[in-house]
Amino acid sequence: MKIKDIEIKGFAALAPMAGVADRAMREICAEFGAGFTVGELTSARGVMQGDKKSARLLECFGRGVCASQLFGRDPQIMAAAAVKAQELSPDFIDINMGCPAPKVAGHGGGSALMKEPQLAAKIVEEVVKAVSVPVTVKMRSGWDNDALNAVELASMCEAAGAAAITVHGRTRKQMYAPPVNYDIIRDVKGAVNIPVIANGDVCDAKSAKFMYEYTGCDYVMVGRGAQGNPFVFEEINAFFEGRSYIPPTLQQRFETCFKQIELMHKYKEPRTAILESRKHTAWYLTGIRGAAHLRRMCGEISSLEDIKIIFEKALEQTQEL
Ligand SMILES: Cc1cc2nc3c(=O)[nH]c(=O)nc-3n(C[C@H](O)[C@H](O)[C@H](O)COP(=O)(O)O)c2cc1C
Repeated sequence: MKIKDIEIKGFAALAPMAGVADRAMREICAEFGAGFTVGELTSARGVMQGDKKSARLLECFGRGVCASQLFGRDPQIMAAAAVKAQELSPDFIDINMGCPAPKVAGHGGGSALMKEPQLAAKIVEEVVKAVSVPVTVKMRSGWDNDALNAVELASMCEAAGAAAITVHGRTRKQMYAPPVNYDIIRDVKGAVNIPVIANGDVCDAKSAKFMYEYTGCDYVMVGRGAQGNPFVFEEINAFFEGRSYIPPTLQQRFETCFKQIELMHKYKEPRTAILESRKHTAWYLTGIRGAAHLRRMCGEISSLEDIKIIFEKALEQTQEL
């Protein structure tokens, strides 16, 4: 797939996930074959007010194709923030029209923009005018089942200059609950001439294949399926390239988890890195038999050594089985 002139390799991207898909996770996923990664949603207003945390969220890095994501509802502020974001060298800039969180949608940004398509299109237009990198949009299927307007909104965003559209096939009202509306993703693909990236419950090669075949999308995006499982990108790429995929051993999972958490230490305050390592370590243990007590131990992690101990126990335990 190409987003304007940017060649996107492979078959799946890492979804933006606030509080989860940080720089460390994005670098690891890129290493395992994610075709591009998108940064955590960042407040355009925060960027313009000089908030340091917001600026840090926009940072891009030299691993794979890298986008930053902005949210807001004021076209001028969004455009000015996009100019600032561009200074940090993203390959493209994504506009969030999908976030359901009250602190975003409650202020008219994120998924609430789906209720104001004219304003949403105006934002795209202003951001496109302000920057030289491609501008993409990530939206949901609609606000709720009575307002499934992704097809109309996608067409309006295309007309306003968007270079690609990601559709998460759920409404704002659904949050993250099933089912994914594959029909609407297919309909968006049928309505626009820019690449359509399909998102929602893709978590392995089988679900990626279904998404591609059912919707005719140009690319897929994986969110929660990549938590503790960056290997999912290699699995999907191997499948579509006709290569065999060998799932990671527990030792490989451990090494990857440890590497990710070491990277978190490189990029974050030590205390933040340790606190956030708890959930990531628990995710890396998903699917291991008898891991409930190990996951509980993850809640107590207070050093890198604790992570080693948990995995040593997991290794011992699986050898006993
Ligand atoms: C913890 C979490 C944080 C998220 N943060 C963002 C975000 O910052 N920007 C965004 O566009 N979507 C965000 N999303 C939505 C995901 O990008 C994705 O659309 C959604 O999880 C559906 O994909 P999945 O079924 O593969 O997880 C978030 C989702 C989760 C679970």
